Amino acid sequence: MFETTSLAHLPKVAQYEALATQAQALMAGEHNLIANAANLSALVMASLPEVNWVGIYLFDGNELVLGPFQGKPACLRIALNRGVCGAAATTRQTQRVPDVHAFAGHIACDAASRAELVVPLVQQGRLLGVWDVDSPSPNRFDAADQVGMEALCKILLSSVLPAPSRS
Ligand code: SME
Repeated sequence: MFETTSLAHLPKVAQYEALATQAQALMAGEHNLIANAANLSALVMASLPEVNWVGIYLFDGNELVLGPFQGKPACLRIALNRGVCGAAATTRQTQRVPDVHAFAGHIACDAASRAELVVPLVQQGRLLGVWDVDSPSPNRFDAADQVGMEALCKILLSSVLPAPSRS
């Protein structure tokens, strides 16, 4: 059994250090992206304060399709030219949005969401999807959250075996 506890009492850097250690333990020996993203979203949701949605959208070669997540039911498909997730996928840059109401094109899945952090998942130049975290608190995510969440995404990506090249 794997125990999760709230890390809210710790400074952010320590929160993400603990999460990285726990994520590595959870993914040890497993190479399936869906399985590892499912556990990582459950871990983050159980551990971090002021998070109301966390999960993954998978790139199907055309658009983003909902994958494993924690939170309220969400939109199933996101075109690459839409929303914060589409912006992360097309720019391949993390999108840190302090107030989603001020982000043109933001897609509201849970009306309670006010801040959002989306990390693109790119492995050997291939877009696998995006990692999306929402909060009901404006300005919830700062640079430390971005660094910490990007580190968790690296752990997720390194758990997955790269697809064989088609050459
Ligand atoms: N807000 C996202 C959509 C996904 S949900 O937040 C789960 C966006 O604008 O792309």
